Amino acid sequence: MNVMTLPRLIDLEDKTFDPFVVEKLATGDAEDPYPLIHELQAKGSVHKGGYRELFTDLPDTLHALNQYMVFNYDTLLRVLTDAETFGNRDAFMHTLGRSFGRTVSVMDAPEHTRFRKIFQQAFLPQTVAKWGASVVDPVVTDLMSGFIGRGEADLVEEFTHHYPFQVIYRQLQLDREQAPIFHKLAIAQILTSLDLPQGFEAAAKLGVFFQALLDQRRAEPGDDLISHLATVEADGERLPDEVLISFLRQLMNAGGDTTYRGTSALLTGLLMNPDQLEAVRADRSLVPQAIDEALRWEGPVLTTIRYVRREVELDGVLLPEGAILNMILGSANRDPTKFKDPDRFDIFRDRTVRHLGFASGPHVCIGQHLARVEMTRAVNALLDRLPNLRLDPSKPPPKLLGHKLRVPDHIYVKFDA
Ligand code: HEM
Repeated sequence: MNVMTLPRLIDLEDKTFDPFVVEKLATGDAEDPYPLIHELQAKGSVHKGGYRELFTDLPDTLHALNQYMVFNYDTLLRVLTDAETFGNRDAFMHTLGRSFGRTVSVMDAPEHTRFRKIFQQAFLPQTVAKWGASVVDPVVTDLMSGFIGRGEADLVEEFTHHYPFQVIYRQLQLDREQAPIFHKLAIAQILTSLDLPQGFEAAAKLGVFFQALLDQRRAEPGDDLISHLATVEADGERLPDEVLISFLRQLMNAGGDTTYRGTSALLTGLLMNPDQLEAVRADRSLVPQAIDEALRWEGPVLTTIRYVRREVELDGVLLPEGAILNMILGSANRDPTKFKDPDRFDIFRDRTVRHLGFASGPHVCIGQHLARVEMTRAVNALLDRLPNLRLDPSKPPPKLLGHKLRVPDHIYVKFDA
């Protein structure tokens, strides 16, 4: 594929608008929501009210709707796996649907089942395993070359905040020059949740760009993700452009932002617990359980939403049709009846109960195999190539912040150069 022929991405009109600063406001204003989560969890599983309203001072696009919050593991699992009673479409059309359009998160069956089946073909475990060596490793090596000889680094600023996005650029075979605008627009589009005009402008500009890219890759197919998605099929059916474009809009946030935050949580958990870091360094077969523990302890998607499709009673609370449920996945993952000493990061804990960091049911994360491949490759490379990796004692330790999409601002480390 000739990169010279790539369609051009157009930046936001207001060049002074910095979506990264605004995004921080939208996701990062709660230091630690878990004490309040535990308090409410102890009082009952289902509470009236909206999560954003209770935990932040931010405007809420769901404020006019009848909202409830769900806190306990068993109740959350019941809702997530009963898509006939609890749907996605009429909930997400007020949030993600505003920027992404007709994507799988905003669909209910039978439409969701039909399209999800096709997308799943593109993200099968055997397919994404191949991307480990061809796509993830070169990105990891390239980023590490920026600090490997220095003996110290900020792993957020110099590594985690970049690698999953660069993996996406490589998968899409995007022009390097356009990458910063792409990242900026992808973050800006989610700001539709704050009703900012730049959010709608960014979503529209990405839509025009993706349509041009799709047309081009269909005419000149390569082995990149867009060419693959444009031709993948299930039961003889392909994805319509509108659905594909909405998916691509969602990819940076669903795949990039979550993996950046998840990897930062994993590194924080390990570095803050040097005995566990040491155990993983010595025995890499522990990496998968360390990843699962990070996604349980500080899963990046702390809450999601559903709507009530028909009046139903849930744990003694009568929910009217149309009500919005704030599903506090982070609360399920710290439910003390399921996880002993739930606030503790412990890679050796009993794993009989599955965490809900990737949710469950028909909308369970489509990219979970890819996320695991990326996180495994990243943590192994850091442990292999940064001998004696440890927190920098002269700098503040990492602290996860945010009420919804949590991440530390910095992870300052030292290692033997
Ligand atoms: C550590 C990284 C990740 C975490 C914690 C995560 C978490 C989640 C969660 C909790 C959901 C379900 C939301 C709901 O049911 O309301 C979800 C869905 C989804 N994820 Fe991920 N995700 C991650 C990585 C990825 C990656 C790498 C991709 C790229 C392909 C991806 C694509 C998606 C998509 C498209 C959906 C919507 C699926 C549907 O509605 O059928 N995610 N993710």
